[in-house]
Amino acid sequence: MSVRRLAPKEVQPASFAFSPENLAWAKAQIEKYPPGRQASAVIPVLWRVQEQHDGWVSEAAIRAVADLLDMPYIRVLEVATFYTMFQLQPVGKKAHIQVCGTTPCQLRGASDLLDVCKHRIHHDPFHLSKDGDFSWEEVECLGACVNAPMVLIWKDTYEDLTKESFNKLIDGFASGNPPNPGPQNGRQFSAPQGGPTTLKSAGKEKA
Ligand code: FES
Repeated sequence: MSVRRLAPKEVQPASFAFSPENLAWAKAQIEKYPPGRQASAVIPVLWRVQEQHDGWVSEAAIRAVADLLDMPYIRVLEVATFYTMFQLQPVGKKAHIQVCGTTPCQLRGASDLLDVCKHRIHHDPFHLSKDGDFSWEEVECLGACVNAPMVLIWKDTYEDLTKESFNKLIDGFASGNPPNPGPQNGRQFSAPQGGPTTLKSAGKEKA
């Protein structure tokens, strides 16, 4: 687990205001929980705030979420700093790439993906590329080990990657035409590559 702190004061905006659409959406989430349990909406509301705020959560945004949910500021700060799904500093405008670096992905080539990030984006994680379009970090298992190696960009996963397909993926985000999420090697979800390998004779046996 890495140390997760708020971005320095120099990059923190002075304030945050929910857009009217997001405020209405957040209130609808709160309604899903029993009275007095509005704090249960903290994760979806923080996520929506992050989407509104260029992919990261500022200190002012954390305070705004706490005020909305009637929670102590420290409680929302705890949530935002615990989960790696929340970014605490500015990220790439086009993509913040979270590369899974846990053992199954490592065994399937995650270090190649990390090398691509270091060469194409920035040598170090959490730094913006020169054009400000990309940033990256290494994270722990994202639950798609069967499709290792994989990355998470915003809310979508891109799986079964190689150095080549990962470069194409970055090209796609750079040009505004990213490929469809999911496996990038042609297989369907986690089905066997090349089609089914079992129950192939079921039809014949029936006949
Ligand atoms: S180890 Fe990478 S998704 Fe689980």
